[in-house]
Amino acid sequence: MTDSPAWSEADSEAFILRGQVFTPRRAEIARSLVDLIPAATDDAFTAAELGVGAGWLSEAVLRRFPHARVVGLDGSPRMLAETAVRLAPFVARVELRPFRLEDDAWLAELPPARAILSSLVIHHLDAADKQRLYRRLLERLEPGGGLLICDLVAPTSETARRYMARAWDDEVLRQSRAMTGGDALADEFRATEWNLYDYPDPTMDMPDPLPDHLDWLRAAGYVSVDAFWLCAGHAVYGGYRPA
Ligand SMILES: C[S@@+](CC[C@H](N)C(=O)[O-])C[C@H]1O[C@@H](n2cnc3c(N)ncnc32)[C@H](O)[C@@H]1O
Repeated sequence: MTDSPAWSEADSEAFILRGQVFTPRRAEIARSLVDLIPAATDDAFTAAELGVGAGWLSEAVLRRFPHARVVGLDGSPRMLAETAVRLAPFVARVELRPFRLEDDAWLAELPPARAILSSLVIHHLDAADKQRLYRRLLERLEPGGGLLICDLVAPTSETARRYMARAWDDEVLRQSRAMTGGDALADEFRATEWNLYDYPDPTMDMPDPLPDHLDWLRAAGYVSVDAFWLCAGHAVYGGYRPA
């Protein structure tokens, strides 16, 4: 992806360095998403990750399922290079592809997947494009396969907005201290106005309320649609293609 008014290569660089502290409880997110994949440990299957970033979620899938193959897609050459380094120990089971989320071409080239995963990417689409993506992804899943997403969701009231903003700040401060021994990254999180619940940037971030996502998934034909985990505005949710 070349630089655009939305996600840029500078954003990729910043996220590679800070994502672990700025994302609340990444280890819990990875564990939840991997646990929700409808597969036994020894199954051989394909999983796809949309917006693979620096590769931590694909790595969790490859570690849990030793016979699984992962197709990782991202629009950022910087992110794909970072992921290639991180996933080098799994090179025989990984394929990295450039893609642009808003386009359609990559969808036709996705192999049938047991799971399609995505973390912190889909909120870059508007509501209509999210619904369209959910419909298109159902066709790319094996029967019984799961679309499993972690993403920022929109508050449904001013009270909820204040809560999500404060909870995210608190999580970043806790993780900054626990992971780096100091407050510098939490100070940077505030100084760079990263918390979109306090500093919305509609050119970049278009989160929608969690209940809307669940309605859209059901309307697209997914079953067992649910929200599985929620922390500081970050939700793990998804659904399954009927078996
Ligand atoms: C906030 S990062 C999340 C990365 C990773 N999934 C994570 O949770 O750490 C957003 C990712 O989506 C990619 N991205 C953003 N907008 C995109 C678009 N329109 N098309 C393709 N990739 C995009 C970025 O390159 C980046 O890797």
